[in-house]
Amino acid sequence: MSSLSPSLKSFIASGPKLKSKIFPLKGKQKLVFFLGLACWILCLNLWILTHYDNSLDYFVNFESDDDSVSIDYDEDEPENNWTFESESSNNKEYKPVNTSILNDVLIQALQRQLDIYDERNIEPIFSTNYETIANNHDQKILSLFANLNFNERCDLYFENLYSVDHNWSLNPNEDLPLQDRWQFRFNGWRKEHFEELKKKFIEEKKMKSEEFEETQQFSEFVQENYKKFWSHMLKTEQKLQDYLTHLRIFNKCYITNDTPESIKTQSDFIALQKELVKNDLKIDKNFEKIPKFVKSKGEQSVRSSSFHDCSDIEQRVYPWLSFHYPIYERWNGEVLMSPPILNEKSALSKNIKAAPANKSPYSPIKSKFTNNQPCFLNRFKNTANGRGLVLTIHDGHAEDTVNLIRLLRALNNRLPIQIVYFNSISAETKKKIVKAAREKFFDLPKSFESVAHLFPDDYLHPKDGGLPKQEIWFVNVNNVIHDNYRNKFRGWGNKFLATIFNSFEEFMLIDSDTALVKPPSFFFDLPGYKETGTYFYKDRTTNDFRPDSDVIFFKKIAPSVMDSLMFNIPQVTSFTLNNHVFSGLKHQMEAGLVIINRSKHMGSMLMMPQLHFAEPVRLRSHGDKELFWLAFSVNGDENYFYNDNNAAAIGIIDSTRSKPDGTEYESTEICSPHPGHVNGYDDTLDWFNSGFHFCGRYKAVDYPQDFKDRMETLSYIQSVDEMRAFYYNALQIEYAAIPPYTNRNEMELPNDFGEPIKGWVKHQEICHGYQYCAFDSIGGGDNIHKGKLIKFDDTSRLLFQYYGDIWVGNE
Ligand SMILES: *[C@@H]1O[C@H](CO)[C@@H](O)[C@H](O)[C@H]1NC(C)=O
Ligand SMILES: *[C@@H]1O[C@H](CO)[C@@H](O)[C@H](O)[C@H]1NC(C)=O
Ligand SMILES: *[C@@H]1O[C@H](CO)[C@@H](O)[C@H](O)[C@H]1NC(C)=O
Ligand SMILES: *[C@@H]1O[C@H](CO)[C@@H](O)[C@H](O)[C@H]1NC(C)=O
Repeated sequence: MSSLSPSLKSFIASGPKLKSKIFPLKGKQKLVFFLGLACWILCLNLWILTHYDNSLDYFVNFESDDDSVSIDYDEDEPENNWTFESESSNNKEYKPVNTSILNDVLIQALQRQLDIYDERNIEPIFSTNYETIANNHDQKILSLFANLNFNERCDLYFENLYSVDHNWSLNPNEDLPLQDRWQFRFNGWRKEHFEELKKKFIEEKKMKSEEFEETQQFSEFVQENYKKFWSHMLKTEQKLQDYLTHLRIFNKCYITNDTPESIKTQSDFIALQKELVKNDLKIDKNFEKIPKFVKSKGEQSVRSSSFHDCSDIEQRVYPWLSFHYPIYERWNGEVLMSPPILNEKSALSKNIKAAPANKSPYSPIKSKFTNNQPCFLNRFKNTANGRGLVLTIHDGHAEDTVNLIRLLRALNNRLPIQIVYFNSISAETKKKIVKAAREKFFDLPKSFESVAHLFPDDYLHPKDGGLPKQEIWFVNVNNVIHDNYRNKFRGWGNKFLATIFNSFEEFMLIDSDTALVKPPSFFFDLPGYKETGTYFYKDRTTNDFRPDSDVIFFKKIAPSVMDSLMFNIPQVTSFTLNNHVFSGLKHQMEAGLVIINRSKHMGSMLMMPQLHFAEPVRLRSHGDKELFWLAFSVNGDENYFYNDNNAAAIGIIDSTRSKPDGTEYESTEICSPHPGHVNGYDDTLDWFNSGFHFCGRYKAVDYPQDFKDRMETLSYIQSVDEMRAFYYNALQIEYAAIPPYTNRNEMELPNDFGEPIKGWVKHQEICHGYQYCAFDSIGGGDNIHKGKLIKFDDTSRLLFQYYGDIWVGNE
């Protein structure tokens, strides 16, 4: 719900006419007009305030699907239940941020002239720091836009944080609970908590439980508690908005705005804005000339000469960092205390040098808060160099990692590899990995014979020990994190540290069980990557949904209109707002392989761990997978690219499948525990998840049970032993099926033809619930939606077989 009525919206949108419509009004006439407008806006806001509960109608709860996905990702973290206790400890009245400055007609004119459109369709929200700035500068906020350049605005923003609290800092441990995510609406919430509320009511009224009745008084009690819950939730969301806004502005101001292109972009933006403001003001006869920008007392009180370098402000924004580099350890034991210079020839070099921190073309960022010195993260960003692979592992991943490294050798990979770790990996694991990377590797499986001709002459180098040796580095990020915050990086947290603290300018981040079927260098040549500096893959479009409250929440943490006006941080557009998650699907991205140019996207990388800290985000993102695109969008960086195809099921076609009446299905079914990722440009296979074993969890399977339950998808397996061998061996890949997906509302097509209703069906009984079947079409008769069925060519199939044999270690 927007607080602007359609009439005002169309009035504002009516473009250049605006000026001639308003400004010809003279003296008294104008006063009356503005008073009227102000009254009307005030009334509107009051109405919204008092009718706020109505806005809950917004929160439509989708039915929760019973067979929700729990595969590929660890179990979701349990959501906290709403409790009366957590409420009472935090019962200060919530006061919404005053966004009335957005109703300023001149601000709106500026917004329109600069093409800043807020398409989110939610109540306006921005950092409370903008309210402070607006209050400090009263009606003269426009003089800010007319006078301050980009760096001055940066300093002004943080000056206000210092002036409100001399000892301000961001707190990654701040308690920001998410409660009752599925029950935001009153009725659902009441039902969910009825027993709890009843008990509490009985206690409070000191009555006997038999005396309880649903009286008016009880109903008021329930409403009172609901309001508390609601206001608590709004307060949390505002805190998060503040936190993330401070971050995106800090990152842009003091970390990333040091390249010639970026500096030029900001100064062009400021120049245009100053011009527009001057024109707007000229038309308004009240302003004889542009008012000077005068700092408030509070802003002036923060003395510029007192900052020696960036460390004061940087530590307030990043208290979880220690401001030490990670330790980079080469496979031969050599150790560098800052990022190394690595390239495709490094595997053959004896000596690896450290990267310089102050490379051209970066120019130092000017600010009184940094005394014009580069911040730690800025220096670190500028050491990034070369291309490479990055993975994060713990000891439990040793076996997969060894298999992956053997595969990389078979793929003729020449890019260096960094293994980023946190909670120490054992010396033994390191030894195994180095052995796999450096030992002679001549003995190739039989399947190599049919594909040998596809590889270059130097593939099996006699002097070099057979398949190319890999340049392995272990990156210990333990001392990058401040002692007090180490526990924030358990589990998924490592992956975020890996995106930030590997040393490459361009990196491909993979999981240890990511199965590549193309050499890593291939991915860096994808047109989408070259264009945007990212390449992301999409997940399966399973019928798993999220509550609408998630969608509103994700919209709320996106950049605000003030971020755009002051700092040229773009609004999110339909590119973000139309992705699967915003349509209510649970899954958008499959993050088992991502490619990122870090120099281009450092600000977005820095956003990722911060999102992970916040429970309202973490509980909605299922590990790291949705945090990539979300971090980009929340940072105002929509310059990222998705592979065109949604994830596929890859495997073979069960030739025995037919309808009960013996006729053929319209649809084709492929079943497999592996989501496959089919290249959007040519429909070839790029990679897939969960390793090459048919069942990645083959060690943990109860074979007799799986054998008994196998009928639907693996009926041709004849014995428990066959089952065991089948699960262990490499997945046989001949086809991929990508189910159709048009939109959220057409994911089920009931039909009388016995054809599948939905594109993905989970088979709980096979391979620990990893097994999914996909259909290349759903529905029947006149109402069929078609996806894709892809048959891989003979060469590809032979390569898959060779790579599979290498990975599982078959002779
Ligand atoms: C929340 O409540 C549900 C049932 O009401 C219960 O199963 C679950 O364990 C509770 N979760 C926590 C974190 O207390
Ligand atoms: C918001 O700020 C404006 C301008 O400072 C003020 O007139 C208005 O009363 C404030 N609204 C609320 C609800 O505090
Ligand atoms: C400043 O803030 C830090 C971190 O919140 C706190 O540890 C410290 O005691 C504060 N110092 C003062 C003087 O308030
Ligand atoms: C990576 O991004 C940086 C910064 O925008 C750019 O200069 C560089 O050319 C990019 N690298 C590639 C290979 O596109």
